[in-house]
Amino acid sequence: MLKLKNLTVSIEGKEILKGIDFEFEKGKTYAVMGPNGSGKSTLAYSIMGHPAYEAGEESRIEFNGTNILDMEPDERAKEGIFLSFQTPLSLSGVKVFQLLQLALNGKKDPLQIRNEAKKYAQELGISEELLNRPLNEGASGGERKKMEVLQAAVLEKKLLIFDEVDTGVDVDSLKSISNFLTKHKEDKTYIVITHYNRILHHLKPDYVLVMIGGKLAKIGGPELAKQIEDEGYGSIK
Ligand SMILES: Nc1ncnc2c1ncn2[C@@H]1O[C@H](COP(=O)(O)OP(=O)(O)OP(=O)(O)O)[C@@H](O)[C@H]1O
Ligand SMILES: [Mg+2]
Repeated sequence: MLKLKNLTVSIEGKEILKGIDFEFEKGKTYAVMGPNGSGKSTLAYSIMGHPAYEAGEESRIEFNGTNILDMEPDERAKEGIFLSFQTPLSLSGVKVFQLLQLALNGKKDPLQIRNEAKKYAQELGISEELLNRPLNEGASGGERKKMEVLQAAVLEKKLLIFDEVDTGVDVDSLKSISNFLTKHKEDKTYIVITHYNRILHHLKPDYVLVMIGGKLAKIGGPELAKQIEDEGYGSIK
């Protein structure tokens, strides 16, 4: 469903991703691990189409057969791609309902959006008060991550990329987020960028991808995440 072909990406002339070839399949869960600065967030931003990240001329990102490299982020979102940011921002004065309504643009009526958001908030342990606040205003790190997961669910995207959705999240919240993602998986594809094996105990990835220095250094199963936890990245050949 998502094919990366010779993906090189530069920021301000500095090459960060150095030729990635990989195909993500529909319905599968992928963990992406790698040392700090290895290019994981860059990969996520490049798939979403962040304008600062420039792909090489030979590069292709195909989503369901279409090269999306020339598409703007909002067009990619319409195709069904969602990125949950490593550091979710707050929006002063805008509530999550308004944002979702705008994004869904007539695809779901406001009452349905509100009901779904409320239901999902309950499942994720998000309080009514937080849900009704301007998006993420004064929200804690963990609360922001949960709000990202809630938005992904209401928007019903097909490819969901979570950039460190587990960082700064307490054990109980991690369980609610993981259980939520498992429960609402259906035929969605998850790409879960993480430093920790603990979220993978719950989410059970089909594949673990290790990025080192802007390249895919190794692909394996959940045992690879365990190896990294036990022995570090030095053990990856
Ligand atoms: N705007 C920028 N200008 C210059 N270099 C940048 C810019 N954005 C990212 N980089 C560099 O690109 C490299 C990859 O960064 P990236 O955020 O993708 O790493 P990461 O694997 O997500 O790391 P982490 O685990 O710390 O989140 C880093 O060396 C970073 O400093
Ligand atoms: Mg990152």
